[in-house]
Amino acid sequence: MVDFLNYNEARELAKAKLPRGIFEFIDRGTGDEFSLRHNRRQFEAARILPRVLTGGSPRSQKVEIFGETYSAPLLAAPTAFAGLVWFKGEIELARAAAAYGIPFCAATEAITGVGEIATAVGTPIWFQLYLWDREELSQDLIEKAWTNGARTLVVSVDTPVLPKREYNVRNGFDIPFRFSPRNVFDVATHPRWAVGVLGRYLAAGGLPNFANYPPEYRANILSRGSARSMSLAPDLDWDCVRRIRTNWKGNLVIKGILRADDALLALQIGADGIIVSNHGGRNLDGAVAPIEVLPDIADAVGDRLTVLADSGVQRGSDIFKLLASGAKAVLLGRSLLYGTAIAGSAGALRMMRNLGEELDVAMAMSGCKSLKQIDRSLLAKA
Ligand code: LAC
Repeated sequence: MVDFLNYNEARELAKAKLPRGIFEFIDRGTGDEFSLRHNRRQFEAARILPRVLTGGSPRSQKVEIFGETYSAPLLAAPTAFAGLVWFKGEIELARAAAAYGIPFCAATEAITGVGEIATAVGTPIWFQLYLWDREELSQDLIEKAWTNGARTLVVSVDTPVLPKREYNVRNGFDIPFRFSPRNVFDVATHPRWAVGVLGRYLAAGGLPNFANYPPEYRANILSRGSARSMSLAPDLDWDCVRRIRTNWKGNLVIKGILRADDALLALQIGADGIIVSNHGGRNLDGAVAPIEVLPDIADAVGDRLTVLADSGVQRGSDIFKLLASGAKAVLLGRSLLYGTAIAGSAGALRMMRNLGEELDVAMAMSGCKSLKQIDRSLLAKA
């Protein structure tokens, strides 16, 4: 049943339903979680200066990204665990995005492969790439995404090493998964998840694994050390991204930029867009919040790059603040995973609608009939 009215209520429902290890994998940050808290504090510090008596209806949230028109300035962010919060959760989430009229970005580390999602959904999806240390295998995956209709490739550049997330180690719910008394208890005490998610995978013929990995590297999430290991490219640099640019005929988006000079380098190598992101406070603890750096980045690149943003969005007013700071659209990670965890596609769709309605209220009360009118004059100076 879909019964939540906002992010916090959805988070509580997801917390009750998911094994603690999975919930914390999604919910928490890295290190001492400074950046996780900082993202929220910066949203709170940014205040809207509403303009009255200039709005009216109808209001539109329509936005054009890479030549396609979408119904709202929202995207389903690439995430690793959608397929662990619901049976084939990526497909549920992608269907909700298609129904709402926004892009869905499939992830390299997802449980369901890009081909299976694309086939099930029928509308073009985006694909996020983590470059592996075997670059030729990454190239195969890029080609697979292309063959399956993806025309926008999002390359994550903010993870040259794995972040330090101690709670994952304690919970044993990291990649790869480790069996421990704690997580066996965790699963046993969450029967709705054990039966409804794990049980359905078992009934469908196998444990969930990372379907985008080449078969010889594909460990199912419960088997430890059975597959050969492959890691993310430790020497990822601008040359790697340049090589991807040369081979990829579609739109190229670089995810994880927090500096104007890096945004200009992205432009220089021929990227079409960037995602200003601190990975939801999940990667470098101590990193700035996107909203602090967006204005400088947007000024530096102007309209030569499509600037998207994410990290810590929980309300329509947060979306409004990112748009006012220079983002064209905003990616949603945790919020949509909680919606999916609660009720699959219907839950994800409910979360999209909630956030869209909240954005509409912020627009109406600030005198904005369209996204173009949401500009920096609507934010109070710090
Ligand atoms: C994460 C990686 C998988 O944030 O992107 O968990």
